[in-house]
Amino acid sequence: MGAGLQRMRCFAKVNLGLQVTGRRDDGLHDLRSVLHTIDLHDTLEYRPAAGLSLRVTCEGMASGTGPADGPDNLVLRAAAAAGLEGGEFTLTKRIPAGAGLGGGSSDAAATLLAVRPDLEMGELHRIAAGLGSDVPFFLYGGACLALGRGDEIYPLPEQTDLHLALAFPGHSLSTPEVYRAWDDSLTSARNPGRVNDFAAWSGAGGDGIPGIANDLEEAAIRIRPSLKDLRSALERSGARAVAMTGSGSAFFGIFDDARSAKEGARRVGEAGFTATAVRSISRAERDREVRERQSRDAD
Ligand code: C5P
Repeated sequence: MGAGLQRMRCFAKVNLGLQVTGRRDDGLHDLRSVLHTIDLHDTLEYRPAAGLSLRVTCEGMASGTGPADGPDNLVLRAAAAAGLEGGEFTLTKRIPAGAGLGGGSSDAAATLLAVRPDLEMGELHRIAAGLGSDVPFFLYGGACLALGRGDEIYPLPEQTDLHLALAFPGHSLSTPEVYRAWDDSLTSARNPGRVNDFAAWSGAGGDGIPGIANDLEEAAIRIRPSLKDLRSALERSGARAVAMTGSGSAFFGIFDDARSAKEGARRVGEAGFTATAVRSISRAERDREVRERQSRDAD
């Protein structure tokens, strides 16, 4: 293991489509989802040190979401799960927590990659899945199909760049609460095949955008009816398609190009929400960019 500082980019994701296919015996849910890495990212710094420590600062969209630097933070849990006894971590959060953007899960995956570059993918995947259903995806990135409880990852062919406006309502949603609300609804498996449609489109590069839909959206709106206003703001901003990501609370709209995504985000901002334009990151780009700097000179 190198002696120096490592700086990792922990990219966020959106769920371009998410279908809940059923409830499992372990209380979790089976799903089918197409995830894509986006360029919004946290930055994680790691230096070998005597004890385990973590300092968190929040900026940008994550401002005011509160630093979570206790032992429950997924960075420290990932470090411990990887067998690390000492390390000094500094995390700069830009991905809001509880937004369905996978911030904590991405931080955890980056921690595993930083502290255990010696491990094979299969072993990293096993540790990642033990930390949370979303963590394995972040070991791969790009466009992936996720099955099972979300931890079975099938990388999809790369596709054309997506330009999105990401909108955050300023509050988080609890994932277990959203799944419970889904359980209480009668909407299960209403639209079989939708995510398959998307997977097909992503490979073929077709013109329409089938599959951009999220089965958890109705449940999230039942918990927070004001999320409907966020969706409407994105629809009015000129997006070709709008959906919630993960179990919320963030939504995204898909635009034709970077300029219209920026203009869309500006309009959503005018409606009183926090919004920013983001773009998709391919697996190749993610592989190149995940290690921001690797130095053996501890400073
Ligand atoms: O796996 P993870 O720890 O991220 O899951 C957090 C919670 O989200 C679970 O305890 C469960 O309530 C819900 N969940 C679920 N089905 C999934 C993933 C998460 O019910 N596939």
